Amino acid sequence: MPSAALDDTAALSRNAIHERRTIQPERDLSREYFQREFSGQADEWKQPQRERVLDFILSHHRPRQPMRFFGFPAAMWTFEKMIQDRRPDAKFIGVERSWQVLEYGVRHMPGERTEFEKVEIKTGAIDTFKSSQSRIAHFHAEHFWEMSRFFIGSRAARRQFVQTFFGWTAAWIDPFTSITGRFRESLHRVPARFVENYGNFPLVVSFSIGREYEFESNGSDPFMNRVELVRSELSKNQFRDFVVVDAFTSGREGGVQMGTVCGVVVPRK
Ligand SMILES: C[S@@+](CC[C@H](N)C(=O)[O-])C[C@H]1O[C@@H](n2cnc3c(N)ncnc32)[C@H](O)[C@@H]1O
Repeated sequence: MPSAALDDTAALSRNAIHERRTIQPERDLSREYFQREFSGQADEWKQPQRERVLDFILSHHRPRQPMRFFGFPAAMWTFEKMIQDRRPDAKFIGVERSWQVLEYGVRHMPGERTEFEKVEIKTGAIDTFKSSQSRIAHFHAEHFWEMSRFFIGSRAARRQFVQTFFGWTAAWIDPFTSITGRFRESLHRVPARFVENYGNFPLVVSFSIGREYEFESNGSDPFMNRVELVRSELSKNQFRDFVVVDAFTSGREGGVQMGTVCGVVVPRK
């Protein structure tokens, strides 16, 4: 009977989904997979970048305000743990598009009582893990920002969505991509209205510097061109400006170079 066949398929896919969500802390698969990206070697060049970003965020965050940090925690939540050392009461919102990275990282999330939670919204459901201090969503960052502008659903559902994922007081957008057209387009959606409830806040954007550098021959400084691109995209919001405070490059000699722009989102005069 067709309906029985459909039921079987549904049962099968339910099992498959259940299997995917099981956390297996002893599983070895992740070790090999993450060795390259998350070895001490990678950290050698990443650590000075993190420290400079941390100094910037701590010195530009409103001192008495509880911190609600948005970032890309990857597998190790290293930067979030650095914040936690300095601001033990901070809360963390993260986004990760790779389920494998997210699942591996769940054991490193700051906080206690970590559990899976499906957040239901009108346009679908978002898979998340949450703890007493953190929440990570299995989602594409650009979709997230898009939804912050065009949320479909009731007022109550929207309030719930904002409380769950937004209200950041500091953020580091560090997806390890170069400044493609898509990345640029997504940037001007970042300081969207859901983020703005809290006023001025420190926002950092990092990007990789690829071979495209070599083809820029108009005599201007390619890094400063990118800093300006980030600034202008983040300033496209009619109510907000992005004021650059610090910009620097980092990376291993002969390896990938990263650019980082630290700035403050401020109301437009
Ligand atoms: C460079 S790592 C972040 C490192 C972190 N800031 C640290 O200090 O260790 C970037 C992570 O973001 C994820 N990512 C990249 N682009 C993304 C996107 N558009 N949406 C969601 N996650 C993304 C990658 O899979 C990766 O795990």
